[in-house]
Amino acid sequence: MGYSFEACRDAVRAGDAGMDVQRHDIVIVGGGCAGLRAAIAVLHQNPAASVALVSKVYPMRSHTVSAEGGAAAVARDDDSIEMHGYDTVKGSDFLGDQDVIQYFVEQAPAELAQLERWGCPFSRNEDGSVATRAFGGMTTKRTWYATDKIGFHMLHALFQTSMQYENIVRLDEHFVTKLLVDGGRCGGVVALDLRSGEMKAVLGRAVILCTGGAGKIWPFTTNGNIKTGDGMALAYREGAPLKDMEFVQYHPTGLPGTGILITEATRGEGGYLLNTEGERFLLTRDYGVGAKAELGPRDMISRAIMLEVRAGRGISVPGKIGEYAHLDLRHLGEEIIDGRLPFVRELARSYAGVDPVREPIPVRPVLHYMMGGVDVDIEGRTCIEGLYAAGETACVSLNGANRLGSNSLTECLVFGARAGVHAVGFAREGGAGDAAEPQLLEQCSAEAARIEALRGSKRGDETLAGLREALNLTMEEGTGVYREQSAMARTVSAVAELRKRYQNLHLLDSSRVFNTELTEALELGNLIEVAETVAVAAKARKESRGAHACEDFPTRDDQNFLHHSLVHRTPEGPPRFDTKAVTLGTWEPEERKY
Ligand code: FUM
Repeated sequence: MGYSFEACRDAVRAGDAGMDVQRHDIVIVGGGCAGLRAAIAVLHQNPAASVALVSKVYPMRSHTVSAEGGAAAVARDDDSIEMHGYDTVKGSDFLGDQDVIQYFVEQAPAELAQLERWGCPFSRNEDGSVATRAFGGMTTKRTWYATDKIGFHMLHALFQTSMQYENIVRLDEHFVTKLLVDGGRCGGVVALDLRSGEMKAVLGRAVILCTGGAGKIWPFTTNGNIKTGDGMALAYREGAPLKDMEFVQYHPTGLPGTGILITEATRGEGGYLLNTEGERFLLTRDYGVGAKAELGPRDMISRAIMLEVRAGRGISVPGKIGEYAHLDLRHLGEEIIDGRLPFVRELARSYAGVDPVREPIPVRPVLHYMMGGVDVDIEGRTCIEGLYAAGETACVSLNGANRLGSNSLTECLVFGARAGVHAVGFAREGGAGDAAEPQLLEQCSAEAARIEALRGSKRGDETLAGLREALNLTMEEGTGVYREQSAMARTVSAVAELRKRYQNLHLLDSSRVFNTELTEALELGNLIEVAETVAVAAKARKESRGAHACEDFPTRDDQNFLHHSLVHRTPEGPPRFDTKAVTLGTWEPEERKY
């Protein structure tokens, strides 16, 4: 079938589904770093293509905006592509796929240089070269930064670049409730317009999911409320497995109480971690990080803080939540703090009541990032034809069992672009959409009826807040920094039970315009869906690797567990667990110590 690549943005009409139908070449779900980069890549590859960018928030409110520390890519003479590759493989505890890592480190410098041309104001050295800072697990300074507000600046540069393209049609504040899949091919999405409460069919020859992670599964997180695993759940429900979901990253330095991120750049600039005795425990005790101390990888430093607390060397102040460590920046002085970490000073003052120029900042490990996600290949392809994923939503296997700080923004750029290029090539060949349109529109009608029935529904007496709290508590118990088999087993059962209880929701609001209760109900459904895969995968991995520290099996076991885990949804009954080989290469697995 011939395909003209005409822009279709005016082709909005009332379709057979009794709702507005839009037709595009590519539908991108999510307007953060990966989604915007994918959209720009599509238009660079084929300026005539039509892109729908569907996001439940305005793109500038995507979670990318909250990134602080920086983005990694080789920039200095004392660095090399090979060193970045090795650091990433070692950081991943040898679970990252080495072909993916090689591609990533090769592409990273060009992606960041391009972002600067698009307007990202990276900080500079006095000689005019790009300034880089140290980050955990990296052998040299390779994190490009913009003081401590990299996310805001990157997102701004991408968003303003995307606005040059008329063929990017934005559907802001549209919540995608279902992927349209027929005969194993994805042909679009159906979305709830949050403003009007109407459903819309957004058909496309390929769909790219870039909705970020699912940090709101846990009670204490750096993640914004919008990070509810939407893309992961959408793909999983249609038959795409989720990969390596047991590996969730605790960032060592969140503010107690709120979980607000205090960037690793604080330690990159020379900050120390202290216990209640004022001891710099990462230097004085053996936590596996060696001379790297505070610049060890996140999994090890988070564990070290927990062990300090367990040993009675945590700090606690009456009225504060939990025990914590101190992050001391005082020796850096006001000029460096204001010059390179101004946002940290603002956050510490506003949310912890301390001025880091004069006092240490209370910090503790906090859920930050998911290494796992929708299983994709290096092109971003899932097992469903026409369905792609990139960024935190996806697991391309760059990060393995533990991501190095500052690799993820670059990941969004490198693999967002690659998914965009591949998807538009696929669409040119005809894509997945046209043939199945009547069936896809039938699915839209059924989905609209499902959403209508959920709005204000009174099926039982379960509340959103009650279910969310129960989910948070059981996931923290079973899948925290340290895990043990009996707690993980309880969490697997508890989440399965929550899935049933979710059917008995009692909602109060049946209005249409900005019905936030309905949106939260849909988000909670996604959180439960994704949480179950985390618990099942964690229970199955009977070893300790990277961020999965299992107290019953404290060592890494390459003999039995040097593999990715896959969790498949089954129509009825518990998820099905499976494994997939890791792609090795230059670097053979070795003991991971620093
Ligand atoms: O600490 C930070 O600034 C976080 C960076 C990252 O997660 O990559």
